[in-house]
Amino acid sequence: MYAIPTPYKISALLNQTTYLVGGELKTWTGQMTDVYSTISSTEVYKPTHLGAIPDMGEAAALEALDAACEAYNQGQGDWPTMKVEQRIECMEKFVTAFKEQRETIVKYLMWEVGKTLEDSQKEFDRTVVYIYDTIEDYKKLDRDSAKFSKQDGVYAHIRRGPLGVVLCLGPYNYPLNETFALLIPALIMGNAVIFKPAKHGVLLLSPLLKAFQESFPKGVVNIIYGRGRKVATPIMKTGRVDVLALIGNSKSAIALQDEHPNKNRLRLVLGLEAKNPAIVLPDADLDLAVNECISGSLSFNGQRCTALKVFYIHEDIIEEFNKRYVAKVDALKFGNPWEEGVQLTPLPEPGKPAYIQELIDDALAKGAQIINKKGGERCENYIFPAVLYPVNKTMRVYEEEQFGPVVPILSFKDIQEPLNDMADSNYGQQVSLFGNDINSLAPLIDTLVNLVCRVNLNSSCQRGPDVFPFTGRKDSAVATLSVHDALRSFSIRTFVAAKDNPYNQKILSDLLASGKSNFMSTDYIL
Ligand code: G3H
Repeated sequence: MYAIPTPYKISALLNQTTYLVGGELKTWTGQMTDVYSTISSTEVYKPTHLGAIPDMGEAAALEALDAACEAYNQGQGDWPTMKVEQRIECMEKFVTAFKEQRETIVKYLMWEVGKTLEDSQKEFDRTVVYIYDTIEDYKKLDRDSAKFSKQDGVYAHIRRGPLGVVLCLGPYNYPLNETFALLIPALIMGNAVIFKPAKHGVLLLSPLLKAFQESFPKGVVNIIYGRGRKVATPIMKTGRVDVLALIGNSKSAIALQDEHPNKNRLRLVLGLEAKNPAIVLPDADLDLAVNECISGSLSFNGQRCTALKVFYIHEDIIEEFNKRYVAKVDALKFGNPWEEGVQLTPLPEPGKPAYIQELIDDALAKGAQIINKKGGERCENYIFPAVLYPVNKTMRVYEEEQFGPVVPILSFKDIQEPLNDMADSNYGQQVSLFGNDINSLAPLIDTLVNLVCRVNLNSSCQRGPDVFPFTGRKDSAVATLSVHDALRSFSIRTFVAAKDNPYNQKILSDLLASGKSNFMSTDYIL
């Protein structure tokens, strides 16, 4: 019986007919793009029509850019010159309104990107925590700067200031959390933002437009819709963007960067693709390794930048590892996001099952086999994870970031094999290393930390906890994100210096006592 629990039913279309520009929720009268979910509402499969979003073009994009530039006003706007406490107040107002939208946002996370109920709730709650943690960290940053230093007869009051106008583009797999991991620090540091949601996970942001409008001064947050090519490209071409903040693919990041006429002025904050390997050494605790490899490779169907996307298993244990791993893969439950105990869910991109099939066919043609019974089983919106073994370097699944349910396995004899592959790879985000003998682990760790930016010992790869640095080498990232690092990534050190003499001393004391400067302050924010 195909039943959708009442709270998760789509009872009406959500047509997003407004966009936020210059503090106004403007009505869009142009073309709209229909939004469909790959999840069916009926027993006989049919994509579900969820609503529509504006299909904007250059004119609307440049209108948003003008609004952001006006709000920033080359650093002279109210927002970039505001007192830290006041910016924090705006953010607190926003998070209060944000929390009220949990139910709707969680529901649309399930329908738009197919994330399980539990993971959708986690994504929402993690974002709330992220905002509060950012506020706290910003206070700490401010307190640490609420002082003067003196060197060689010069006083300095050093703080972090905003960079300017930020174009913010988030990914579809974490349309809320990862987007906010860019937006929130960018805003709180005093930048003005133009934000365009990803290709999926757009309607879930609809309830937040009003909250943004009411919480921040006009033009500080501008939200537009449409294809990247049509809206982001013309914005970049103007050269008026100071920061490109993008979580997604390096190809789009490079293409957008290339449009900017003054590249030296453009700061990049990028979270890009990865091909994180799992390396399982012969002495590893196999049950632990298998369990971590299951969640690492297949949670949210492998659609995580941190997902384990290639396995290197030592030849002494490969048979046993594969046996235990495939048994667990085939036991994973596929279903709609709200179903009890479901682990695999519909893929939000309609073309994804066909793409994964191409990777499988290519690997099979080049000598791999599907080693699990259910591997490759297809339905309209899914393809069951195929575990492919033995995989070699000529196969597309070895090279490409599959970002979906297919698992390539290679065996190795000498640890130098996976290390060489990682060194040759275009990616360098994280690795999972499974083993127990410290004599083999120690030198490996010393090498791996230079190939990637996080070595997960006996556990799968992940971004969290969000206070830890999240970054990557090569094509995997530019700049570091974490609650703390993001505040730094979206700001620059700037300071007031004055020679130590009675004349300046009096001015500095008066400035501080008057409280007239928003920048110069030794107040301790509680
Ligand atoms: O898509 C990439 C995300 O940053 C992964 O985050 O490790 O919390 O799933 P996660």
